[in-house]
Amino acid sequence: MNFPSFSLAGKNAVLVGAGRGIGYTLALGLAQAGADVVVASRTITELEDLAGRIRHMGRRCLPHPVDVQKLNSIEALQKAAETELGPVDILVNNAGGNVNQSALEVTEESWDLILNTNLKGLFFCSQTFGRQMLNRGRGKIINISSTFGLVGFKNRASYASSKGGVTQLTKVLAIEWSKSGVCVNAIAPTAVHTPMNEKLFSDPEWRKDVLSRIPIGRFCEPVDLVGPMVFLASSASDMVTGITLPVDGGWTAW
Ligand SMILES: NC(=O)c1ccc[n+]([C@@H]2O[C@H](COP(=O)([O-])OP(=O)(O)OC[C@H]3O[C@@H](n4cnc5c(N)ncnc54)[C@H](O)[C@@H]3O)[C@@H](O)[C@H]2O)c1
Repeated sequence: MNFPSFSLAGKNAVLVGAGRGIGYTLALGLAQAGADVVVASRTITELEDLAGRIRHMGRRCLPHPVDVQKLNSIEALQKAAETELGPVDILVNNAGGNVNQSALEVTEESWDLILNTNLKGLFFCSQTFGRQMLNRGRGKIINISSTFGLVGFKNRASYASSKGGVTQLTKVLAIEWSKSGVCVNAIAPTAVHTPMNEKLFSDPEWRKDVLSRIPIGRFCEPVDLVGPMVFLASSASDMVTGITLPVDGGWTAW
């Protein structure tokens, strides 16, 4: 019997939003599992240290700037990835942002920023890389959603709308593309201490409230997301598509 493999050896992966926080660790996780990795973020400078670490692990690595709010920037990333490393097998859509505001405080500017980064950017990355994957008849796309793509929370009108959109988009792309060999799934992490939510983590009331909702009793660490990502990127998950996998210590089990 041929048991499935979790190895990513020989695969080319693109990690969008790799400069810091969750994406930084996920990029190392892809390399650890054997993949060569294109690491992309808004600025090239935030990627230099990461690229050095990945090369030190014996993998090829291309750091490349991208602004996911701009389609021509995504297309430039795709071309560079293919030229430097070859056809892309795995795309991890991790770029994202958040502005905590009550619904009445949300401005047109903050709404556009969050939705254009978290949902529009993720869609056009998927479309651009998905097109090439469909031409080859294989590929894995992994979208980083959030617990707030599955349940609501105060002060998250724009963020939860964007992540709820990611959950739905993941299903639609899976329905359209899976038969042609491209599986599309999402991961929904609960709160992780990263630069994005530095301020929240310094608020004891917020920490207490959030921890009370997590049955496992601790916050998520970036490394907790590596196993689920490698599973969804590898042939071990070939029958899995369209799901949003919560990595939330049980928050959504309530
Ligand atoms: N931190 C959490 O608690 C948490 C929980 C659930 C989901 N998430 C999601 O995980 C992902 C990463 O979050 P994080 O906490 O590591 O955030 P972060 O702010 O620490 O890092 C975000 C990364 O995305 C990049 N980025 C942002 N806008 C971009 C753009 N327009 N184009 C290209 N790159 C861009 C940044 O340069 C950075 O490298 C996000 O999608 C976030 O919504 C985070």
